This record gives sequence, structure tokens and C-alpha cells, in this order.
Amino acid sequence: MSPVLVILLLSASLLSTGDSGKVLVFPVDGSHWLNMKILLEALHSRGHEITVFRSSTSWYISEFSPLYTSITIAQEQPQNIESQEVMTSFLQRSMEIRQNKGTLWAFFQFYRNLFNLFGGAGKKGAVKMVTSIFENETLIRQLNETGYDLFLTDPAFPGGVLLAHYLKLPLVLNVRWIPGGEGHFSLAPSPLSYIPAVFSHFSDKMPFVQRIHNIIFHGMLVYMQYFVSGPKYRVICDKYFRDDVNTLSLIQAADLWLMRVDFTFEFPRPTMPNVIYIGGFQGKPSKPLSSDLEEFVQSSGEHGVIVMTLGTLLSDLGPEVSETFASVFASLPQKVLWRHIGKQPAALGNNTMLVKWLPQNDILGHPKTKVFITHGGTNGIYEAIYHGVPVLGIPLIFDQYDNIIRLKARGVAEIVDVTKMTVDSLKSALKSILDPEKPYKQNMVKLSQLHHDKPMKPLDSAVFWIEYVMRHRGAPHLRSEFYKLPWYAYYCLDVMAFCLAIMLLIILLILVSCRACFNSLIRNRKSKLE
Ligand SMILES: *[C@@H]1O[C@H](CO)[C@@H](O)[C@H](O)[C@H]1NC(C)=O
Ligand SMILES: *[C@@H]1O[C@H](CO)[C@@H](O)[C@H](O)[C@H]1NC(C)=O
Ligand SMILES: *[C@@H]1O[C@H](CO)[C@@H](O)[C@H](O)[C@H]1NC(C)=O
Repeated sequence: MSPVLVILLLSASLLSTGDSGKVLVFPVDGSHWLNMKILLEALHSRGHEITVFRSSTSWYISEFSPLYTSITIAQEQPQNIESQEVMTSFLQRSMEIRQNKGTLWAFFQFYRNLFNLFGGAGKKGAVKMVTSIFENETLIRQLNETGYDLFLTDPAFPGGVLLAHYLKLPLVLNVRWIPGGEGHFSLAPSPLSYIPAVFSHFSDKMPFVQRIHNIIFHGMLVYMQYFVSGPKYRVICDKYFRDDVNTLSLIQAADLWLMRVDFTFEFPRPTMPNVIYIGGFQGKPSKPLSSDLEEFVQSSGEHGVIVMTLGTLLSDLGPEVSETFASVFASLPQKVLWRHIGKQPAALGNNTMLVKWLPQNDILGHPKTKVFITHGGTNGIYEAIYHGVPVLGIPLIFDQYDNIIRLKARGVAEIVDVTKMTVDSLKSALKSILDPEKPYKQNMVKLSQLHHDKPMKPLDSAVFWIEYVMRHRGAPHLRSEFYKLPWYAYYCLDVMAFCLAIMLLIILLILVSCRACFNSLIRNRKSKLE
């Protein structure tokens, strides 16, 4: 065979392995969309046809894209919570509460603030969006007739899960959060003796008192699932579905969970066969920096560079906090690249460069980068692990504190609480990470090697499993049906009660017969005496 023909045949067979399918996507807007889009790019490059739901008020999800065609649902409200004002006021309230951390007042205010956010206005928008899809018969008929192969959604807001059930499509989740907290807790056995609950700020080694607290923290999220975020969607389930389902059971019934978790980050825990770990799937090699950035970075000499960014919506924490950072940075021999929005701090040193935007991945991949100062969102954390850069965490809200706790437990990070931060505490934490005698850098390099040492890249794995579910029209053989059991059966309480009843019965029988024996003995003796 001529080499050309071989190449032609080979490429033909390569092309035909990716039978292209039709994928319907119901994303969550905001930072979650940035994640979802990476998956969609990979699916698009494999030749799949992608359709994306978006709200007319969407910020991030554009109507026109070479990757997908969109279905726009007309809405008045934003679809979810990440609007600037809501987040800013949530952040400010969170910081006020954190100042009283450890008190009972702070405990209740923390959950009140959280429940307000997740049960509030943003939530109504998400519910309305699903309702208007269900109410549009033309749209539903079109969707039904198109013959989609797969439904891909992020269940942090579970509208997509409801729609997938209505259209009876195989369901794949791109997930870490569900309305009741971290996804694993609703899927796999999660002993609270060594699995820290979200917001507990504990590691996987908990002494007795922490374990008591851990159960309480977990209880609060179970309460949120059933009484705060669940009820609004229950109305939709009752109205449109004849079978007895709710959002939680529909999420648990998904064919596959693409879990945005990697065990170089998360504590080891029990899991399920239909969970595929894709944590760090956004990781990619760094590209060269622009010439002015490169020049700045090189000018740091042997001391290297500190990189600081605190997320898209949370950049401005107020002037005092910025001044503290600026004066600590000014006292260091390193150069500092700081993504800062707002007024320039007065104490800014000539070693610090303020920028409105950073090519974060490229900077973290630069050999001169020594420390990454971050709020602890997972995107940044996985980029730091990917490139082996130790972390100084300034956690603000949501899961960020728990995320940094995980890195600290691996010996690759320090935490500074922004509400208690002083020039001294910030400086000593930074100095400690920068100290070449301390093992932060080696630990992070080791963690990075572990993260890379895999049979398949996380993104390739995600694509493989999505196509797997398409090829087989679902993956029910991987899914445990535990969620159909009533709670007393799940914990075998009915069996235990039964065993207990039998035991009691036997003891009772023994007692009764002993008594009968005893009585007859006495009677015999009496009759002998007489
Ligand atoms: C229903 O969906 C169709 C097709 O997407 C769209 O043209 C129409 O405007 C929608 N109707 C309403 C009331 O939203
Ligand atoms: C979708 O179409 C099938 C027949 O092609 C029909 O049986 C089913 O009820 C339709 N489902 C919905 C949700 O309209
Ligand atoms: C930066 O500031 C330090 C001390 O404040 C000074 O010694 C140094 O010369 C300055 N460097 C430049 C390039 O201005």
C-alpha cells in the first residue's frame, strides 16, 4: 500500500471514531460558564453539534458563537446570583460576620446570609427560566424532535436537570456543587468522622469536639437542601412530572458525574462508579508573556515575583486592606504583580505593578513566579497545582476557606484571614512561604507531579466519558439506585428494628418459660411437702 493511502485510511478511521452527536447544554451563568465552555470547546473540536440555553439577561454566555447555537429565553431578571451588587453586599456581610467568628451569633448570621443568597432573588430568576421553557410548547416540541443524544448541565442551579428528565435524555453533570452543598455528600457514603463538611474549615483529621461541630455544619446544609433551595423547584416537579421525583433524586439519577475534583486537592473519600474526576481539566501549558510583563518579571532577578489576584468580582476589599497589602509588598525584595481594580494605594512601592487584568495561567507558569496570592477559587488553585506554585490564601466567601485548608493540609499553602490581617501577620506568612529553607515549594512541585501523572488528561477523560454515554444512550449500569430507597431502608434501620424485635421476643420467651419452670418447681416442692 502506498504511504499516502495509509495516511488517508488512518485519518479516515480517526475521524470516524468520533461519531458526532447532538448535545444540549444548560449551563450556569457566571464563573461556572467559563468552566463549561472549556468542555464545549473540546466537544466542538471532536465534531459534536452543541446547543446552549441562555437567558436574554445573561452576562457571560454570548448569543452567537462558533462553538454552539444558542436558544435564548426571554427574561427580565438575571438568571443567577453573580450580579455585582448582590455579590458585593454578600461579601461585605460575610466579612462583618467573620469578625465575630466562633460566636453563636456569627454561626446563625453566616447561614442566614447564605440562605438569603441561595433562596433569594437570583433563585427566582432560575426557576422562572425553567418554567418559561416548559410552558413553551413549540420549543419543547422542537427540542423533542431534534433528537439530542445527550444533556449536559451544571446542577449548581438544577433547572437543566429538570429539563433533561422531561425530555428523557441521558444526563451528564459537570459538577462540584449541587443546591445542598458539595455533590459527593448526596451521592456516595460520606462518614462525617473523617470527611469535613463544607464551611467547617476542618481537615480530614478531626478530634472529638470538631466531629461534633462537623455534624452540625453538615446538618445546616441538609436543612438548606430540603427547606431553602429545594421547595421552589418542587413546585415545578409537582406541576410537570407525573412520577414522584424531586430535584435531589433527579440529580442522583444522572448517568454520569464529571466531578471537578482531583485527589491532589481533595481529601480521599468513598466514591461511586459513575463519578469521573476531571479536577484541573482547565490546566494548560503557559504561553510567553507580553514583552512589558516579561521585562518586569525578569527585572526581579534572583528574588522572583509574587502574583496576586482576588477573583473577578471581589477585587476591591476597601482601602485599608489595599494599604496593608501595598505596604507589605513595598517592604519585600521581590517584584509584585497585583491585579487591582480601584484607587491606587498610597503605600504602593516601586516594586509593585498594578494591572487591571492578568494572563494568570501564563504568569503562574513562569519560572520566576514564587508565590500566588489568591482568594482560593478552584480555577486558580488548579492552575497553581498545575504549575507547582505555592499559595497564600486570602479566602473571602463560599468554599474558598475550605479549599485553602486542603492546600494547607498538603503543606503547600498558608492562610491569612482578611478580617484579622495586619502588616505583621501578612508579612510573616509571605516570608515563610518565600523562605527557601521551608518545604512549601518542594511540596507543591511534588503535588504538581502527582497531578500530571495520569493515564489520560482530565479533559480527554471528560470527553471520552461524554461520548461513552452517547454511544450507549446512558450508563445505568454504573449508577447505584440507592437513592430510591427510603431513608430507614438506606441505613437498614428497618432490618435493625426487626432483629431487635426478634431478640426481644426470644428473651421474652426465655423469661416466660423460666418462670413457668420455676413455678412448676415450686408447685412440685409444695405438693411434696404436703
Ligand atoms: C417559544 O419558542 C419559540 C422557538 O424557540 C420562540 O420562537 C418563541 O418566541 C417562544 N415563545 C415564547 C412565548 O417565549
Ligand atoms: C416526544 O416525542 C415522542 C414521540 O416522538 C412522544 O411520545 C413524547 O411524548 C414527546 N415528549 C414530549 C416531552 O413532548
Ligand atoms: C525603589 O525604592 C527604593 C526604596 O524606597 C529605592 O532604594 C530604589 O532606588 C527605588 N528604585 C527605583 C528604580 O526607583
